[in-house]
Amino acid sequence: MAAYDKHYTKTEYFGEPYKALVAFFEQYSSRGKLVDLGAGQGRDALFLAALGYEVDAVDVSVVGLEQIKAQNPLIKTVKADIHAFCVSGYDFVLMDSMLHFYRKDMEKERRLVEKVLEDMSIGAVLVNCLSKSGKAEKTLMSIIEAARWNFEIIENSYIDYPEGKCEYHLLAIKKQ
Ligand SMILES: C[S@@+](CC[C@H](N)C(=O)[O-])C[C@H]1O[C@@H](n2cnc3c(N)ncnc32)[C@H](O)[C@@H]1O
Repeated sequence: MAAYDKHYTKTEYFGEPYKALVAFFEQYSSRGKLVDLGAGQGRDALFLAALGYEVDAVDVSVVGLEQIKAQNPLIKTVKADIHAFCVSGYDFVLMDSMLHFYRKDMEKERRLVEKVLEDMSIGAVLVNCLSKSGKAEKTLMSIIEAARWNFEIIENSYIDYPEGKCEYHLLAIKKQ
């Protein structure tokens, strides 16, 4: 049983998708193949599929993946460990609330980001949302700057999240 299975007995455990995240993908000039790494119950995967993105949802929670499939059978659900998942071939990679850079997870998350940056296809866009934290944002940026590829920053802003009474940082980068 995956850790989040018990939480996903509650509908929309993480609430609505962030409005600014929806707006980012709505206004984006092109659609394409998108992978949602750690898709949860699909709050993002579902709206992205409705917008016309071809969405693959990856998670270890079968409960979450089954809920996604039940709401939109066109979304491909993949039970897999995101640390071993290759994002090559996708136009967009979404990571929402997957990174925190707490001390105990620092190295694992660092390796995850390094692998995603390495595997991403040229021209692909990584969109990451993390709970506002100067330290975590700096860590993420330092990993991006140390990568052997160049990334163009196409969005770097804060998202209001009234349900959580906090803000999220939205970063979107394109591999050059
Ligand atoms: C904080 S939730 C975020 C869910 C979703 N991204 C959202 O914002 O609604 C983290 C999700 O990542 C999944 N997860 C955690 N570690 C994972 C791993 N190594 N491989 C695949 N999924 C993982 C959990 O099962 C959970 O659904």
